[in-house]
Amino acid sequence: MKESSTIDLKLEKEKAVKVYKNQEEASLYTANRIASIIKEKQIKGEHAIIGLATGATPKGVYQELVRMHRNEGLSFKNMISFNLDEYYPMMPVEEQSYVSFMKQQLFNHIDVPIHQIHIPDGTLSIEAIQAYCDLYEQKIQDFGGLDIQLLGIGRTGHIGFNEPGSDDVTKTRLVTLNDITREDASGDFGGKEKVPSQAITMGIQTITGAKEIILLALSKRKAEIIQKALEGHITPDVPATFLQKYKNVEYILDAEAASLLSNIKV
Ligand code: PGA
Repeated sequence: MKESSTIDLKLEKEKAVKVYKNQEEASLYTANRIASIIKEKQIKGEHAIIGLATGATPKGVYQELVRMHRNEGLSFKNMISFNLDEYYPMMPVEEQSYVSFMKQQLFNHIDVPIHQIHIPDGTLSIEAIQAYCDLYEQKIQDFGGLDIQLLGIGRTGHIGFNEPGSDDVTKTRLVTLNDITREDASGDFGGKEKVPSQAITMGIQTITGAKEIILLALSKRKAEIIQKALEGHITPDVPATFLQKYKNVEYILDAEAASLLSNIKV
């Protein structure tokens, strides 16, 4: 009995990992998954509640979604979006804000109504943050929960800005960024010391509450953490390992990011 359940689990896990030849193909697949949900919901006359991510990783996904809008008439009028995180403090007009990133990469090029976009507010006073975060959670619930959440993964194993030490019942909150994360962002800010030390992020529980989850990881830089996230034991030291507990997670990798996995045929 024990043996067969182990095999099931392994099969389930293998089914959830898709390895593509290159970044473009992995991004195309991911964009198609998001577009299908938006279209399915359109047919039903419903909103699609989409959790979005920032960083270098999803850029190709957004490029393809913009192409689909321009060339194939894909409409985003029924999309309600919630971004994972934002630096704190951060003014939306600043170049490094995730508001600027999302406008440049996606929102300025599609027909999503502006009031349907949600990105954590980096301008709040410290005292106002917790109530704001509770409301962010409430809004997601009021729309019926996230239909899909797109994730990248940091070299620390963070998803959103849930750094090592985050447990699986965390919700949207103010967090302190890990040193490696600030180092990785130093190029965008012109020096690590200029990277904010805090951020507002959805929690692990907010993320795992989504009906479907896609974790996208591209390039050699992610190979080591992908190996730990998928094959390591579940631990708050590598927050992405919490996703192993869920069957509705798809890991979309390019061959380089998958290169240290055992049991994967590329
Ligand atoms: P990246 O960041 O896409 O810029 O590598 C991913 C993340 O930190 O989640």
